[in-house]
Amino acid sequence: DLPRFVKIVEVGPRDGLQNEKNNVPTSVKIQLIHKLVAAGLSVVEATSFVSPKWVPQLADAKDVLSGIPQVPNVRFPVLTPNLRGFEAAVAAGAKEIAVFASASESFSKSNLNCTIEESLVRYRDVTAAAKKHGLRIRGYVSCVIACPVEGTIHPSKVAYVAKELYNMGCSEISLGDTIGVGTPGNVVPMLEAVMSFVPVDKIAVHFHDTYGQALANILVSLQMGISVVDSSVSGLGGCPYAKGATGNVATEDVVYMLHGLGIETNVDLNKLMEAGDYISDHLGRPLGSKTATALRKL
Ligand code: HMG
Ligand code: MG
Repeated sequence: DLPRFVKIVEVGPRDGLQNEKNNVPTSVKIQLIHKLVAAGLSVVEATSFVSPKWVPQLADAKDVLSGIPQVPNVRFPVLTPNLRGFEAAVAAGAKEIAVFASASESFSKSNLNCTIEESLVRYRDVTAAAKKHGLRIRGYVSCVIACPVEGTIHPSKVAYVAKELYNMGCSEISLGDTIGVGTPGNVVPMLEAVMSFVPVDKIAVHFHDTYGQALANILVSLQMGISVVDSSVSGLGGCPYAKGATGNVATEDVVYMLHGLGIETNVDLNKLMEAGDYISDHLGRPLGSKTATALRKL
């Protein structure tokens, strides 16, 4: 049975804009977030409190987060790689944070400059601090299908990291196919492995669309009972530490498919397309969603 409602976690302002070569002004980021909220999205990942040496695109995290007016029932999680980022996030008004580990040792090194175990030690401190502040915590596992360096990643490695993040208090575990190579053929066994440690209602899926498999992967995830899907408006993004990976699956395409399946999202596709137009115009780029491209031609 498919879920009746799917919660979309919009990650464009973070996962999308972290990968832009040209600097996007803070005011444009804030305006984009406004438009996404106006479209009905209830979770918009706003930015990351990471090292500006590693991700200069998000060096304005404090100004972005404090520039978003709090909206009732809308959440704006931010990525925090360590206690330093956590403290900065709290000071800027964060009510929800996300920690991000990897199922691949090599990717952990290139993304966080530490081993998987070291990252988990760090995240125990971050999640303990977050719990003290009463903040909600999301946990990411990246490279759940493959790593740009190591190739195939075994589902047991994904399940291990997911379990550790869940046990330290993450209320949602987002499973990331960082480089977008997965197909339903390997996504299903990976999800089965994770589901033996993490309840299905605590799992989210996060597909990049490099090989055009994201919607198929989302559909099989829904069939397995998952009802939280990450996506990015106009398919923005990629990952600065995963060369060649394209953006997340486009939110417009996800909404179009879900509504076609009779699944509610609370998202207004027309208003969402306005957010997509806005950021694509700003970046001087064609629309990154097939749905918006088709509908704009009608
Ligand atoms: P490091 O170099 O090992 O750490 O980086 P460090 O402690 O030596 O710090 C280096 C410098 O950064 C120092 O500055 C620190 O003070 C500063 P300096 O003394 O040289 O002037 N620093 C910070 N500044 C601001 N905020 C902080 C912070 N921490 C240290 N929080 C570190 C380790 C974790 C900091 C670094 O590797 C980092 O920032 N990594 C983040 C990488 C990242 O954001 N990647 C993209 C997000 S993950 C993703 O996209 C995947 C996902 O979408 C899922 C999927 O697709 O699968 C989630
Ligand atoms: Mg990602």
